[in-house]
Amino acid sequence: MIIAIDGPAAAGKGTLARRIAETYGFHHLDTGLTYRATAKALLDAGLPLDDEAIAEGMARKVDLAGLDRTVLSRHEIGEAASKIAVMPAVRRALVEAQRRFAEKKPGAVLDGRDIGTVVCPDAPVKLYVTASAEVRAKRRYEEIVDTGGSADYDAIFEDVKRRDERDMGRTDSPLKPAEDAYLLDTSEMSIEAAFQTAKSIVDAALSRNA
Ligand code: DC
Repeated sequence: MIIAIDGPAAAGKGTLARRIAETYGFHHLDTGLTYRATAKALLDAGLPLDDEAIAEGMARKVDLAGLDRTVLSRHEIGEAASKIAVMPAVRRALVEAQRRFAEKKPGAVLDGRDIGTVVCPDAPVKLYVTASAEVRAKRRYEEIVDTGGSADYDAIFEDVKRRDERDMGRTDSPLKPAEDAYLLDTSEMSIEAAFQTAKSIVDAALSRNA
């Protein structure tokens, strides 16, 4: 069973993916972390971010078992990741590793930008999780403030829009819903309601497969 979850930054797909994986006892891969780990390895080694062959070499060395969300979530790593994510050779290398992960038994949940369209086009469950840019920026703002940090809403809003443009505008594997994806707009929906909707879709697919 493969569950593909795509959507723009800060739409809540990571939370949803983790919860679905926990509920069904499936493996979970946040594919954004594979791009981030590649970018971090280049930065740490003092290597350029604009050399496709070097970046591909690094992408092939990424260990999917050792992805540390806390370290990799840093803003500058996200910026660097979005630069190397436009390179076809980097994408090819990481997609190969992601496809191997997707074969894990008894099932796998992968979240990212191109899972339903490119990585696992035959996945029996595809969700496209989205929300307006305003709602996504507000959620990210509240998350930072709630954990004691300080944040600037306008800067976060601009950042969300910039990332959308980069993710949707690239030539190789742009962010877009797969034709057969279930669209889940969470702008006016709680995380709990989104989870219940997703769960009923997964349950239906599991009973079809049984
Ligand atoms: O979701 P994130 O912020 O961790 O993703 C980091 C970068 O990687 C972001 O620019 C989008 C890109 N990405 C991608 O191109 N394809 C994926 N499947 C996942 C992430």
